[in-house]
Amino acid sequence: MFDTEALLSHFEARDIIEKDKRHLWHHLLQHRVLESQDPMIIVEGDGVRVRDIHGREYLDGASGGVWCVNVGYGRESMAKVIHDQLLRLPYYAGVAGTVPAARFAEKLAGILPGLDHIFFSNSGSEANEKAFKMVRQIAHMRGTSKSKILYRDRDYHGTTIACLASAGQAQRREAYGPFPDGFAEIPHALCYRCPFGKSYPGCDIECARALEAVVHEEGPDTVGAVILEPITAGGGVIPPVPEYYPIIQEICEKHGIILIIDEVVCGFGRTGTMFGFEHYDVAPDIVTMAKGVASSYAPISAVAASRAIFEEFLHDAGDELGFFRDISTYGGCTAGFAAALENLRILEAEALVENSRAMGEHLLDRLRELADHDHVGDVRGRGLFAGIELVADKSSKEPVSESVMGAVMRGITAEGVLVGRTNRSIPGLNNTINVAPPLIVDRADVDEIVEAVKVGIEQGCKDIRD
Ligand SMILES: Cc1ncc(COP(=O)(O)O)c(C=O)c1O
Repeated sequence: MFDTEALLSHFEARDIIEKDKRHLWHHLLQHRVLESQDPMIIVEGDGVRVRDIHGREYLDGASGGVWCVNVGYGRESMAKVIHDQLLRLPYYAGVAGTVPAARFAEKLAGILPGLDHIFFSNSGSEANEKAFKMVRQIAHMRGTSKSKILYRDRDYHGTTIACLASAGQAQRREAYGPFPDGFAEIPHALCYRCPFGKSYPGCDIECARALEAVVHEEGPDTVGAVILEPITAGGGVIPPVPEYYPIIQEICEKHGIILIIDEVVCGFGRTGTMFGFEHYDVAPDIVTMAKGVASSYAPISAVAASRAIFEEFLHDAGDELGFFRDISTYGGCTAGFAAALENLRILEAEALVENSRAMGEHLLDRLRELADHDHVGDVRGRGLFAGIELVADKSSKEPVSESVMGAVMRGITAEGVLVGRTNRSIPGLNNTINVAPPLIVDRADVDEIVEAVKVGIEQGCKDIRD
């Protein structure tokens, strides 16, 4: 239940809004828009709903805006375990161990068969940076040139310069170069806009086979790893076809390439399995994760590595540089481990992965009902993770304009539902609405989201000319 005491008076609300406008630099926002409108300020959350500074309630179909508050808001048990752990020991640097770190590492290794060593840090970007460093140090220690990292068009792996070097999203990269060397792109896996102009299943899964062509172009001796989101998230919610990952794995094995799967969004139940890659017959060498690890009640990210990767770093104690020389100060914060342990307990006790699968099917069924709409080009997803791609014209697949997209999103928000969208990612193709509610949603919540999306699309697209 929302706390009515927490409602701010009109004057208190105005004061906060003014402070925000004067001093807070919002993420991913053109601040000029705040000259004519107020920022959205979220004050509290409960279950699947949040409330803004004016007391307006929204069903949060985006799990905190960027698909991460998976167990929903207002969990006392999460707050309690964090509180208790902070009083016992808030922090110790990761050169030492802590009780919750060891417990959570063991739990993670238990749910990620074959990956039995866990390196903790703070954000998804940082976890991916660690994975890149592991790949490069292995090449260095083996005396090979296998330091290049391949990434996929439309995927995103984080905000740092190296992560942007591995981003298949030109608009996230623009203006932030020069980037480090040693990154190359493979094609995306979106059937609706097949990069090879083919149709599944008669396509021989060319998007996966293209990996081998890129490996040859770059030189098999130079390619150390490929990093992939199991299901592309911010690039437009793109689940590859079932045959995709076995082909990728075969090519990786053939050329001695480390397969890194970025579960930052998909991990911890989002797609209806604990990890997104479990939808496929594939065994990654490294899995990175963040967001859902502790449902963002505390920052924590992790790299899970196979025993073979870990053992590359085992050398004589006298070898001064032959171990993984990486430390992340806040990778030693214990609140994240405590929260992550409780988060896993909740996922299991409340069968939330199963709920994600069941409610996800309902969500996709309901969204597919919108496919008849003139401007709904494609509906795709897995679990509580869905994308609706809007087009101005179904036969040419021309994307809707930015102004139509904006109108659609405003329409959905006005219905009391928050969802996400592809946002300044892929030039000309920021036309996908993303739906990813907390994993605790029920059928009525899903229906409410779909109804709002429907209204938003109808209103936002009504002025598109044929
Ligand atoms: C797939 C994926 N990987 C990595 C990241 C980076 O995570 P963070 O923002 O925690 O650095 C994101 C962020 O949205 C993401 O979507």
